[in-house]
Amino acid sequence: MKRFTFLFVFMMAWVLEVNGQTATTVKLQETLEDLVSLDRLVRQVHWNARGTAAYSLHELTGEFHAELDSQQDIFAEQLSILGVDPVVSFEKLTQNVHAVPNANQKHMRKAGIDLLIKHYQQMINQVKERMKGIDDLVVEDHFIGLRAMLELQQWKLKLEQEI
Ligand SMILES: [Fe+2]
Repeated sequence: MKRFTFLFVFMMAWVLEVNGQTATTVKLQETLEDLVSLDRLVRQVHWNARGTAAYSLHELTGEFHAELDSQQDIFAEQLSILGVDPVVSFEKLTQNVHAVPNANQKHMRKAGIDLLIKHYQQMINQVKERMKGIDDLVVEDHFIGLRAMLELQQWKLKLEQEI
């Protein structure tokens, strides 16, 4: 049984190598797509902020967008450095478009913050998982920086929840 597992892992590694991808570039690619998707969601909340302290949420998500944008740049350029073209699928770009609560909803602010906190947690979990087993220190550093940024932004959202 162990021999089959070894063979399967070897074959997968070979298939990835043939396509110019490695386990590390796949992780970078998936993270880039998740970053684009999360950024779209943050943008939706930014544009649709309504209700109590809407301006505060608008400003905060504007700040998040700028930081998420520079993280996308870091992950995309790292893929290029490793010889893989950074591509984001159309499905990923549109994934979170309909996830934002109706702008006319009375409690849009709370709903928007709750939604973002949930999505940030999902991404933090994925980043933690992808960081495992990375043997390239530069790539590991990118993941550490991203995780720190995501956790900081999520913490700020939790503070906003209390306003
Ligand atoms: Fe704006």
